[in-house]
Amino acid sequence: MIRYLNSADGIRPDQLKGFFEGWPSPPTPETHATIMRGSYRVVLALDEDRDTVVGFITAVSDGVLAAYIPLLEVLPQYRRRGIGRELVTRMQEELAELYMVDLVCDEAVKSFYVSLGMKPALAMTVRRLDRQSGTTPESK
Ligand SMILES: CC(C)(COP(=O)(O)OP(=O)(O)OC[C@H]1O[C@@H](n2cnc3c(N)ncnc32)[C@H](O)[C@@H]1OP(=O)(O)O)[C@@H](O)C(=O)NCCC(=O)NCCS
Repeated sequence: MIRYLNSADGIRPDQLKGFFEGWPSPPTPETHATIMRGSYRVVLALDEDRDTVVGFITAVSDGVLAAYIPLLEVLPQYRRRGIGRELVTRMQEELAELYMVDLVCDEAVKSFYVSLGMKPALAMTVRRLDRQSGTTPESK
């Protein structure tokens, strides 16, 4: 049974295994938990039978006008059963009072976001690969 949570309170690093698929230098589960605690909003999909997180989405925001969705992932073995769509829909509800909600994605998932009501736009980015695993107070 999948349960959706609007908070990462009480989520342990051992419940956050297998994310950041394909990242050369992924954040650790501990850093993943720190990312979620530092986010403006988070929605999690929890497999209650296995007591493990199987999908998550985060948003950062100024709390007035704008939010950015940096991370969305569903574990590979849980994909294509509507969890990603549910996470985005729930996050859209969380951010419904804001003027701007943006994210950057690959061409491969463009149709996924379009089907959820989002519009394509040009994005400009900076990526520091030597910081991909996360900059935390401990790592500075
Ligand atoms: C993108 C992702 C979150 C989708 O999660 P999911 O749980 O498999 O998605 P859903 O099952 O809710 O699928 C919703 C719809 O999008 C479609 N879809 C899902 N993944 C897709 C993909 N990679 N490309 C194109 N369409 C996709 C599905 O066919 C489905 O449509 P349908 O309901 O009409 O059949 C998941 O594939 C993932 O974690 N990918 C790796 C990380 C990633 O790319 N994150 C996005 C960063 S911007």
